[in-house]
Amino acid sequence: MGKNIVEKILEAHLVSGKIKEGELIGVRVDQVYTQDATGTMAWLEFEAIGIDRVRVPLAVSYVDHNMLQSNFMNADDHLFLRTAAAKFGAYFSRPGNGICHQVHLERFAAPGRIALGTDSHTPTGGGMGMIAIGVGGLEAASVMAGMPFEFTMPKVVRINLSGKLRRPYVTAMDVILTLLKMLSVKGGVGKIFEYGGEGVKDLSVTERATITNMGAELGATTSIFPSDENTLKFLKAQGRQHQWIELQADEDAEYSEIIELNLSEIEPMIAQPHSPDNVVAVREIKGMKVHQVCIGSCTNSSYKMMKTVASILNGRTVHEDVTLFVNPGSKQVYQMLAREGDIEKMISAGARILESACGPCIGMGGAPGSGQISVRSYNRNFKGRSGTKDAFVYLASPVVCALTAIKGEIVDPFDTDIPVNEITEPDSFLINDNTLIPPKKDKDVKIIKGPNIKEVPVKEPLEENIEAEVLLKLSDNITTDDILPAGTQVLPYRSNIPEISKFTFKNIDETFYERAVNAKTKGGGIIVGGENYGQGSSREHAAIAPMYLGIKAVVAKSFARIHRANLINFGILPLIFVNPEDYEKVNQGDILRLSDLVEGVKGSQRYLVFNKLKNTYFEVYSNLNEKERELILQGGLLPYVRKKVIQ
Ligand code: F3S
Repeated sequence: MGKNIVEKILEAHLVSGKIKEGELIGVRVDQVYTQDATGTMAWLEFEAIGIDRVRVPLAVSYVDHNMLQSNFMNADDHLFLRTAAAKFGAYFSRPGNGICHQVHLERFAAPGRIALGTDSHTPTGGGMGMIAIGVGGLEAASVMAGMPFEFTMPKVVRINLSGKLRRPYVTAMDVILTLLKMLSVKGGVGKIFEYGGEGVKDLSVTERATITNMGAELGATTSIFPSDENTLKFLKAQGRQHQWIELQADEDAEYSEIIELNLSEIEPMIAQPHSPDNVVAVREIKGMKVHQVCIGSCTNSSYKMMKTVASILNGRTVHEDVTLFVNPGSKQVYQMLAREGDIEKMISAGARILESACGPCIGMGGAPGSGQISVRSYNRNFKGRSGTKDAFVYLASPVVCALTAIKGEIVDPFDTDIPVNEITEPDSFLINDNTLIPPKKDKDVKIIKGPNIKEVPVKEPLEENIEAEVLLKLSDNITTDDILPAGTQVLPYRSNIPEISKFTFKNIDETFYERAVNAKTKGGGIIVGGENYGQGSSREHAAIAPMYLGIKAVVAKSFARIHRANLINFGILPLIFVNPEDYEKVNQGDILRLSDLVEGVKGSQRYLVFNKLKNTYFEVYSNLNEKERELILQGGLLPYVRKKVIQ
């Protein structure tokens, strides 16, 4: 039986399990990269594992997210990341070198490889014909320490492309917006999208990367294109043709589903507030007044797109009611635009040129005014993400964005007096890697940690008996934001667990921190939750901070999947009421005793809980798989990996 591309790559990297939908598999990883917002913790975690060099062929530490330096903290983070990269054997991409996904595509991505990145848009690399998946910091640290990457084999769905885009009016962004309209933000959950068919030839690597980048918005594990002549052309232009291999699905490869998409039929599309799948054709809302336009980000920063934008702006003026921001995704593109006079065209038109970084995409500067409308060539438009809670953010192609910036209203490229010129892909890119620092050979580099960077706490192995106070009793659907809020007040402490832990449950109960610190000296705390405890983001800090504060277990009616995994990764026991009615029998302030835990985790996973204050009993259980049992017994993933790699 023939194989699809995903199967071919996984098979070449397989270390455990069977490549079958729903099975747990382990693979060897070729490349790991981090960005600063998640990377500081990932590198602290790597340090805590205790080995002196990364054990993957390539690791890169990027700085792109948090560039606003209003005090010492960011600069200190950047210095920590630089010295940690030098010490542990990773490349360091300096601030200004660009957004991780764009730079990685240009300088490191290669067909047939497996890459992990500590950012949800890591699948951008799928445009190069590699399996690129976004993971948490601890996962990245453990893989960098040489552990295999384990995950449940998703469904592989083929997207069969035919036809050709109606360039220059229709772009790759319109392809992925069309798919978001068809499939929704949940349409890719538990799936890998593999593109194929005649239409693939019509798309360049950077166009493919725009599509795989926003595959993240479909909820997909990742997306991937074949590696063909176009891939070779891009690699040649980057001076990396030696890294090319051909990669195609076999004729008789099997897929769990096939979706047909004719590129010729796609028209300019736009996602309306506040979800990337709230998509309509641009013509349906053309004429709507806008206040801000942002062009760039990791989604749409290719040389070709940026030059197209420059040619639209050339000799024209940004509408007086509009602020136009441009953030080219990489130094390479930025420098080429500068060399070829395109930056000048943009400045002359009135654009505000930002550095090569995430910027307005993550609300780091460039927030719209209250109630204003912003049209962006970015990938997300959730409420508040722009930094302005009541702003209305639309997502569209750079072509639509540039035309809109000039007219002051949403423009359909097929219906305007401004000419749009087709730009060809370059035969060679400007290669200047002087802001991409290779790892140092000398291992005696000193890691420099400013006062805001503290070591990661590591938990002790599971105790035999726990006697702990119920510090909080919570209702259903508690989010990771409830557990540990984000925001500009909290985020600067992401590398400082003692400090960030002060915000734990702060929005629910101001006294929580004090009470937890007090309980820690007497045996620790327990949290009681309702259904779906820990829903929301994959924020690791929502597990690390409670662990640091001495939380031993969370007893709930049910758990959100990712937070449950994070609790286990940090050694907190997730327990479920055998009888959900027992939830009513527990109160804040009760003292709960759980005995013979080690035996329970190894055996039946059912535990009798004694409520010391009420003199009553109730039953809870854990449904840990084999690996999770190990993690809980050893105190979490960090001690587990440490033991494995140091043995
Ligand atoms: Fe940065 Fe936005 Fe991409 S935050 S990595 S430009 S999604």
